[in-house]
Order: sequence, then structure tokens, then C-alpha cells
Amino acid sequence: MKIVIINGPNLNLLGVREPGIYGSESFSSFFDKLQQTYPQVDFTFFQSNHEGALVDKIQETGFEYDGIILNAAAYTHTSVAIADAVAAIKAPVVEVHISNVYAREDFRHHSYISKNAAGVMAGFGLHGYRMAVDYLLYRS
Ligand code: DQA
Repeated sequence: MKIVIINGPNLNLLGVREPGIYGSESFSSFFDKLQQTYPQVDFTFFQSNHEGALVDKIQETGFEYDGIILNAAAYTHTSVAIADAVAAIKAPVVEVHISNVYAREDFRHHSYISKNAAGVMAGFGLHGYRMAVDYLLYRS
């Protein structure tokens, strides 16, 4: 089972960035634990602040991996290019948001990605990534 986690802009600052919203744990510390929890999964992690790099990674993994866990961060609400990449590939995509985007500003309520996602997790903190892994294992 090959799963790639793709994180978008500013998520490299997890643990430092607005901890009241995103928590105080870095993604690398969380990712270590995630790998220990699911030894049967071959995880890849990718983060970029650049829209095109995210499109490239979705294309590169989308025909080869068993699942993509995508937190496109702010690009969720703006990027037709990332939405088109998600629509183009074969792998199921689980859209994850650490915060409950529906309890925040109106511009965060719309996602270009959700239409082509297998499902969406929002508001469960980093645990949402675990829930996404559980779902991908369940459907495999
Ligand atoms: C986010 C929510 C987005 O609205 C925001 O731009 C982010 C992170 C989340 O994980 O809660 O950068 O995707």
C-alpha cells in the first residue's frame, strides 16, 4: 500500500504557525508517529509552497500510488490547476484540513478540490491525516 501525503503552502510551518488553530506539533514529528502506527504502509511525504510543484507531485504519484492525502492549504480555495490535477489522476484523493474550515472565514468554505475527492476531513487536527489513512486502508 503506497500512500503519499501532499501538503501545500505554509504547512512547513506547522508547530510554529498560529498554534491556536493548527496546534503545536511539527509535521515531521507527527509523520514519524504515523509511520510507526502503520508499518504496513509505504508512506511518502511532500510539501511545497508552490502551486506548480503540487500539480507535478499529484501527476507523478496519481497513477502509481494507492492513495493521496492532500492538504492543499490556501490553494484549496483558489486553485483550478490543482483541482484539474486531482480530476485527471486515478488514485483516490482524501482532502484533509487540520482546522474546521467551515467555522472560519467565508472564503475557506469553498474548495475546488472536494468535487473530485473521495472524501474530506476537516477540523480534527493532525488526527485527520490518520483518519484519511484508515479510510484508504479500509477501501483497499
Ligand atoms: C488548511 C485550511 C486553509 O484554509 C488554510 O489556508 C491552510 C490550512 C488547514 O489545514 O486547516 O493553510 O488547509
